[in-house]
Amino acid sequence: MNRSSILVTGGAGYIGSHVVLKLRERGEQVVVLDDLTRGFRRAVLDAPLVIGRVGDRDTVREVLAAHRVDTVMHFAAYTIVPESVREPLKYYGNNTCSTRSLLECCLEAGVRHVVFSSTAAVYGIPPSGLAAEDSPTAPINPYGTSKLMSEWMLRDVSAASPLRHVALRYFNVAGSDSACRVGQATAQATLLVKVACEHAIGKRPHVAIFGTDYPTADGTGVRDYLHVEDLAAAHLDALAYLRAGGDSTVLNVGYGHGYSVREVLQSVERVSRRRLTVREEPRRAGDPPALVARAERIRSLLGWTPRLDDLDTIVRHSLAWEERLQREPWD
Ligand code: UD1
Repeated sequence: MNRSSILVTGGAGYIGSHVVLKLRERGEQVVVLDDLTRGFRRAVLDAPLVIGRVGDRDTVREVLAAHRVDTVMHFAAYTIVPESVREPLKYYGNNTCSTRSLLECCLEAGVRHVVFSSTAAVYGIPPSGLAAEDSPTAPINPYGTSKLMSEWMLRDVSAASPLRHVALRYFNVAGSDSACRVGQATAQATLLVKVACEHAIGKRPHVAIFGTDYPTADGTGVRDYLHVEDLAAAHLDALAYLRAGGDSTVLNVGYGHGYSVREVLQSVERVSRRRLTVREEPRRAGDPPALVARAERIRSLLGWTPRLDDLDTIVRHSLAWEERLQREPWD
């Protein structure tokens, strides 16, 4: 093997698998590291897969050397907010401590670039509902804190070594591959668009609205829903930026406008042509009223150009994926 490769940790998960697809379509050499506790072997299609943990130094050292890894895209993490509140050390262990161990291996192996999956959860509850990269970070759950601590480690490692990185703070990722090859297959999903689409195809008896008394236009929570293919494209843009010598940076990935829970449910009704059974329930603990990206920076710095910024398109692709999953379950 004489070309350098990109190591994608968590490449068998929801977002990582979409990025692996795009990288391979571009002709990049990729190796996936995933322990398959939350990811799916099928999600990597025929990409090389090493089954192992990011926190296992021996495995990581071996992969970095054997595949001449030059760039790491680090997706592997636990991402369920309520679980992080119940089991914080699980999140600090798997997200923060594993990232520290991975970075140590990267430095030893001379890895030059890291693209890191961060989250809008680092902002906590921004007073205006809008968050820019220089807005204060004040996570309100261990999931957000575990990611913010990883960002800080990356910042400090980049300052002290030749390694450069881009940390991408994702807003609300939804949708799936438009060709329906991969998608989110997690059992017991909690994300709104997936839950609503599962209900639309009859997999759940109803969909709940968590909170109808927020200080928003219709009283329900507002989020910046982002198509996973546009998010995947942002990773390729970040890679091109780093290869061109770009400085380490942190960037929001969102469209810069939000939709309420009710608007999302209306979109699901429109696209599926079904009436949903909606239950109004109390607010879910730890949910900010509104969280929308200030997203100018990624466009100007990386030239990122979203192509699927349309709620009905996001829902259409989510629905198509749920229908496929119902016909051919992944688990
Ligand atoms: C959160 C995290 C995000 C993380 C994601 C996955 C924050 C600010 N964001 O997103 O980083 O990647 O969880 O765990 O912590 N809702 C309903 N009914 C439902 C489900 C959700 O009304 O059945 C509402 C929520 O109250 C919220 C919106 O829909 O207003 C979106 O919720 P969800 O899809 O779960 O994502 P977040 O909690 O925003």
